Amino acid sequence: MTKENKTEADVVRQDNEQVKPAFPRRSLIKKIWALIGLLAGIELAWIGTTILASRQKRGDKQTDAGYIDVAKVETFQPGTVTAVARGGFYVSRLEDGSFLALTSTCTHLGCALPWDNKERKFICPCHGSTFDCRGDVLSSPATSALSLHPLRLENGVVRVDISRRIRRSAYNESQAVRI
Ligand code: FES
Repeated sequence: MTKENKTEADVVRQDNEQVKPAFPRRSLIKKIWALIGLLAGIELAWIGTTILASRQKRGDKQTDAGYIDVAKVETFQPGTVTAVARGGFYVSRLEDGSFLALTSTCTHLGCALPWDNKERKFICPCHGSTFDCRGDVLSSPATSALSLHPLRLENGVVRVDISRRIRRSAYNESQAVRI
């Protein structure tokens, strides 16, 4: 068929074929968006992982930050209460060998508490409350036990977190730290 003999339908078909792009544009755009989405997802996941890792690291530091090394475990004999000037608290080693770190603040109105080794108790100079070596109230007006500092035994060393206090109403065995 010569060019002159082409029907109108042939010309239209030929025109359409010429207009048709060499590649499917819509499909390409979809692929680009999918790729952008994938890259964004990877970046978000990376950012999330980085933030979590950094928080965890900071959290570990915070849990260890307040701790001070007090002394070796054998420094404290069972049945003794020892004042620790740095941090202003007492290490009480109970008869069974377990440890408590007692705050030196009376739970009545906050006076500083001395340990009376002869009487074997804390006697508040302000209003006379007394506490035993576990920090339990022996006599009022105080009504709750001495607060505790978190205590750890690590590598044979007594370590105490002087940045935190644990309030409690009375002593129970789970509060004492054992070797
Ligand atoms: S402050 Fe200790 S008894 Fe009042």
